[in-house]
Amino acid sequence: MPKILDQRRLVPNLHLLEVHAPEVARKCRPGQFVIIMPDERGERIPLSIADWDVERGSVTAVFLVVGTSTRKLAALKAGNEVPVFVGPLGRPSEIASFGTVVLAAGCFGIGALWPTARALKAAGNKVIAVIDAKADYLVYWKDRYQSVCDRVLFSSRDHALASKDFIPRPLEDTLKAEAPVARVIAVGCTYLMYACAQATKPLGIKTIVSLNPIMVDGTGMCGACRCTAAGKTKFACVDGPDFDAHEVDWEELFIRRKSYFDDEVRSLCRYEETELP
Ligand SMILES: Cc1cc2nc3c(=O)[nH]c(=O)nc-3n(C[C@H](O)[C@H](O)[C@H](O)COP(=O)(O)OP(=O)(O)OC[C@H]3O[C@@H](n4cnc5c(N)ncnc54)[C@H](O)[C@@H]3O)c2cc1C
Ligand code: FES
Repeated sequence: MPKILDQRRLVPNLHLLEVHAPEVARKCRPGQFVIIMPDERGERIPLSIADWDVERGSVTAVFLVVGTSTRKLAALKAGNEVPVFVGPLGRPSEIASFGTVVLAAGCFGIGALWPTARALKAAGNKVIAVIDAKADYLVYWKDRYQSVCDRVLFSSRDHALASKDFIPRPLEDTLKAEAPVARVIAVGCTYLMYACAQATKPLGIKTIVSLNPIMVDGTGMCGACRCTAAGKTKFACVDGPDFDAHEVDWEELFIRRKSYFDDEVRSLCRYEETELP
């Protein structure tokens, strides 16, 4: 079974997970994801690939602790094994020489967008990153982004970083300052991606988002990740996870993500009462 090489807190509530999975590491491309099961009795959850190391044979993800499965992941230690670690899944992000590309990332999206930032720079783009966090102590991988991006801006609501606005405002300012911008790529929570899509739509700038609907099998068979883009039914695990943000039916996505909310809360209460180490 795949072994955990590292599991640690990066910043409050956001953890890094490195798993020994040489077969997966050999095939990883930016924008793809893995499905992991934290224990034999757990559920399969998707996590974006935040990094990989072919020589070490490892794949890294960054996850936000939100419910039972991510709590179980956060309790794992180096040396533990996980029963399921499948990937890489999903279509890789489009990497080409576009011109100026603005990346908008928040929360686990900072990790998830890192391989794309690196690849876009290597492809000759001017890469600007706008990193969003509720407070400055929630920003991680600052050095990584600064090492490849032409400019990195930070926005937070605690006045500690350059901008105290939620990401759409610094994004709009950046788009004006860096015009013409060929594309925006936004990755993070659904609301962040939706807000970025709203900001770029009137400007007509192509915007790509990595959708995170509920997934089960990750191979297009169960239908759990059904979403609508350009009026057509899509399955995010095989048709995405990247989609044109201006074509996504956001209302449907928000509703479908809440389908199991009561069960998730019950599961978390049960886990905390009976199983929490
Ligand atoms: C392609 C893809 C890539 C993702 N990458 C990352 C990542 O890199 N880091 C990260 O922290 N999270 C990522 N997610 C979301 C992550 O899968 C969920 O946060 C996780 O499944 C929550 O499990 P839980 O049991 O801890 O929480 P739950 O109690 O199951 O749910 C808590 C919240 O997470 C959402 N959720 C629940 N199950 C899923 C599911 N199977 N898929 C998606 N959302 C779900 C629900 O809307 C709910 O509000 C990704 C999702 C997708 C689809
Ligand atoms: S997760 Fe089952 S079809 Fe996409």
